[in-house]
Amino acid sequence: MSKVILITGASRGIGAETARLAAERGYSLCLNYRNNRQSAEDLCASLSGDGHHAITWRADISVEADVMAMYEAIDREFGRLDGLVNNAGILERQSDVVDMSRERWQRILDINVIGSFLCARESIKRMSTLNGGQGGSIVNLSSRAADLGAAHEYVDYAASKGAIDAMTIGLAKEVGDQGIRINAVKPGLIYTDIHADSGEAGRVDRLKTGVPMQRGGLPGEVAEAILWLLSDAASYTTGSFIDVSGGR
Ligand SMILES: NC(=O)c1ccc[n+]([C@@H]2O[C@H](COP(=O)([O-])OP(=O)(O)OC[C@H]3O[C@@H](n4cnc5c(N)ncnc54)[C@H](OP(=O)(O)O)[C@@H]3O)[C@@H](O)[C@H]2O)c1
Repeated sequence: MSKVILITGASRGIGAETARLAAERGYSLCLNYRNNRQSAEDLCASLSGDGHHAITWRADISVEADVMAMYEAIDREFGRLDGLVNNAGILERQSDVVDMSRERWQRILDINVIGSFLCARESIKRMSTLNGGQGGSIVNLSSRAADLGAAHEYVDYAASKGAIDAMTIGLAKEVGDQGIRINAVKPGLIYTDIHADSGEAGRVDRLKTGVPMQRGGLPGEVAEAILWLLSDAASYTTGSFIDVSGGR
């Protein structure tokens, strides 16, 4: 049976592109989304039409009951889990920290940090060799913002990705002897709709001259790194980070 992976936030952007590439490489897929049902279902129909085994599941990853129901659906549909791409994430409108509200910080941390922990926890329970699982691989979506800080834009988002970096390092050590590898990809400026959510749809083009390679990245270029870390080709790689940022 083919390996099964869950991709959170697979309805668009990096998650959707990772799903396309993963299907091509023979994985069966659970495509998670929150609001964008139509595009998740269109993607699933296109993958299924090409003979791949894929399902969609709506879950807000920051809501524990939603996450539990999603993993129960994976158990029922596939009966196994081999990997997680902890991809779903948000940012909010560009702002200085002094103008940010507590509610905003709560939303950012709930989705980007707690949501990733919830999905990691439920994946580890199923993949750990301690529980009779067959091992597996988790790839977290961090960001170059964790190192650059995102001043005057979204320091809260950058801090949430710093938390993901620490989680990647700690969890890799915690489950390294349970057959599970934990790694992260740190994208730079990638052309997706996330920048419109910050209030500047053209952000990548405004900043691209500061990128050594003088261009923004494509979601597929991030997906390639994710798929490598997920795969057995990365069998001795854990607690590691790949920058996909054109040198920025
Ligand atoms: N694009 C970049 O330049 C860039 C750079 C560095 C890091 N990243 C990281 O890469 C990841 C993907 O980014 P992207 O640019 O592809 O973003 P995107 O185009 O905005 O897509 C975000 C995805 O996350 C889903 N999502 C958001 N909140 C969710 C929740 N609470 N529960 C479940 N799903 C949720 C969305 O689902 P719905 O649409 O269905 O609501 C959507 O599928 C994020 O973690 C982001 O921080 C992106």
